[in-house]
Amino acid sequence: MEESKGPNGPLVELSGVTKSFGDNVVLNEIDLRIGRGEAVVVAGPSGSGKSTMLRCINGLEPIDSGSIRFGGRAIEGIGREIYGIRAQIGMVFQQFNLFPHMTVIDNITLAPVRVQGTSVEEARRRGRELLERVGIPDKEDDVPADLSGGQQQRVAIARALAVDPKLMLFDEPTSALDPEMIREVLDVMRDLARDGMTMIVVTHEMGFAREVCDRLIFIDEGVIVEDAPPEEFFKATGSARAKEFVDKIIHH
Ligand SMILES: Nc1ncnc2c1ncn2[C@@H]1O[C@H](COP(=O)(O)OP(=O)(O)OP(=O)(O)O)[C@@H](O)[C@H]1O
Ligand SMILES: [Mg+2]
Repeated sequence: MEESKGPNGPLVELSGVTKSFGDNVVLNEIDLRIGRGEAVVVAGPSGSGKSTMLRCINGLEPIDSGSIRFGGRAIEGIGREIYGIRAQIGMVFQQFNLFPHMTVIDNITLAPVRVQGTSVEEARRRGRELLERVGIPDKEDDVPADLSGGQQQRVAIARALAVDPKLMLFDEPTSALDPEMIREVLDVMRDLARDGMTMIVVTHEMGFAREVCDRLIFIDEGVIVEDAPPEEFFKATGSARAKEFVDKIIHH
């Protein structure tokens, strides 16, 4: 029997999650469980609800019905406690969203120092370790504008990791990058997954999905139409819509 609470239950659990903007039903009865240490890739056409789902998991977007649990706890209607949950979730966006006027190390240490009360010395020590981990140890004093897109995205990942999140959400982290920089960002994400981070990654990088993820989820019009290990997904006995979509991105 599967448990939804306690250390062995899923880290994230969506049950019957529905979300509309006006008449537009963007998430339609979504059921999804993500186990601790799982790396899940989410793909689907533009407007299918991928970013909205991540925002709902992060508590940034209220849902209309259903429930979302994080570590066994419902996140709806918990008021200020949502900040405590959000602090355990790292988010990486397509457009890096670094603070442009701050150095790399100040971007990384801001939340640990301001929100978590870590000392500046300790936050910087840890920040340097993270920069090492994402492969840019020599960039701590640069400002974002002096870095390549791939380097900026790796800073954004280091910044998200700086608060020791239990879950990392990635929303198309490589789609704003020049092709030659995509690999270096995906390699950092692959290493994170191999180190056991729980991750939900919205991406159309099917090579990454095939190589790294435990499950590949395909969303269309707010409904999960496929949820399978990548090898099964690519064998594609599943929905015609998913097949057509995968073909399109693979032969793109
Ligand atoms: N704040 C909002 N207000 C109104 N409609 C919204 C809002 N955010 C998203 N939507 C609508 O919800 C639908 C799903 O949007 P969402 O951004 O989740 O899609 P997506 O799958 O991430 O698409 P893309 O691949 O283009 O990023 C779209 O029809 C979008 O227009
Ligand atoms: Mg999106």
